[in-house]
Amino acid sequence: MKKLTVELKDRSYPIIIKDGALNEVKALLDEHLGTGRRHFVITNKTIAKIYKNFLDGFKNVVTIDDGEEFKNFKTFEFIIGELLKAKIERGDCIIAFGGGVVGDMAGFAAASVLRGVDYVQIPTTLLSQVDSSVGGKTGFNHPLGKNLIGAFKQPKLVIIDPKTLDTLDKRQIKTGLGEVLKYAFIEKTATDKDFRMFDYLKSLQKKATGNLYENLKSHWQEIIYMSVSMKAAVVSKDECEKGLRAILNFGHTFGHAVEKITDYKKYTHGEAVAAGMVMAFRAALKRKLIDDTYFREAVNLISSYELILDDMKNFDKEKMFEAMKSDKKVSHAKIKLVLPFKPLEVQLFDDTEELLIKDSLL
Ligand code: NAD
Ligand code: GLY
Repeated sequence: MKKLTVELKDRSYPIIIKDGALNEVKALLDEHLGTGRRHFVITNKTIAKIYKNFLDGFKNVVTIDDGEEFKNFKTFEFIIGELLKAKIERGDCIIAFGGGVVGDMAGFAAASVLRGVDYVQIPTTLLSQVDSSVGGKTGFNHPLGKNLIGAFKQPKLVIIDPKTLDTLDKRQIKTGLGEVLKYAFIEKTATDKDFRMFDYLKSLQKKATGNLYENLKSHWQEIIYMSVSMKAAVVSKDECEKGLRAILNFGHTFGHAVEKITDYKKYTHGEAVAAGMVMAFRAALKRKLIDDTYFREAVNLISSYELILDDMKNFDKEKMFEAMKSDKKVSHAKIKLVLPFKPLEVQLFDDTEELLIKDSLL
């Protein structure tokens, strides 16, 4: 078992990472949130089938449709309706049980119903275990863009059971790995601790005989621990993304553009972020922020995790650039890019020339 804390003064909260933690959820809730509270679980139809036994242990379960396309106002309204019909009270507690979609929607429901109730994250995808369940970003999509409606609302507790990844398909594991690799490249900017995640991931890849993804199964606890430790460290220093937290978007400005010009259908978020990180490394090399040795090592690591797909090349430069200009993070018409400037260190730059950006695209 691994335990850490997101330090946010009176809103600090623990993250528990343990194989089999699902079997101890009731005890953990009582221990960390007190006894006698009613729990309202929010999940989706797919997870409800796979984890029926676990969910049977709860009286109030709200089940939403599965998919990013349901991360919208209608589903939000449905969740709030179900909570109100079941007479949720201020002292009750919402539990998000699922991936990032369920987590973001349940978190926002907790931020808004009755002007706010406590909630707990029990993430079940790799992406949600290493990223979205920690840090308090909640919300849903608007037809005009992703995640445009929401609030910062920190959970009271995060319970991560890496065993839930056993039921996840390889594509979803890959999308989480995109974010995992991101932490390896931002380690020295994110934390003073010396995890050496880059070397760790490199050694896992080297040691893997046969199937790399099979081999990862016995390392999830460590990988998740290193990842969320970095996320927790960044969130503790900059909860509302006034500055430092932007480093968590390493690879994302390029990546979001890849997702946008391919209608969010062709690649998963993690694959797009992986391609985005390669583009960020190319931009940093062209700007002479990093040397060729680090560039090669970094790009090799991303490729060795099978995250760059064969058809990830010849992206339309004009379309990509237009998509990058419409990114949420653009300010005063300047494209902001998180770029590496030393091994394992990144920084936000808003002065990268248009030509150089276009030249860095895959
Ligand atoms: P997701 O929630 O759509 O889950 C992916 C798929 O896996 C779904 O079909 C889901 O039903 C299924 N699934 C979940 N757990 C499973 C399990 N254990 N076994 C089998 N199937 C399972 O996708 P995601 O990648 O977890 O999250 C993506 C979402 O997260 C996006 O909406 C994104 O905007 C959001 N996000 C939020 C933050 C944040 O900080 N709040 C950060 C990153 C991403
Ligand atoms: N996933 C980026 C963040 O939480 O800030």
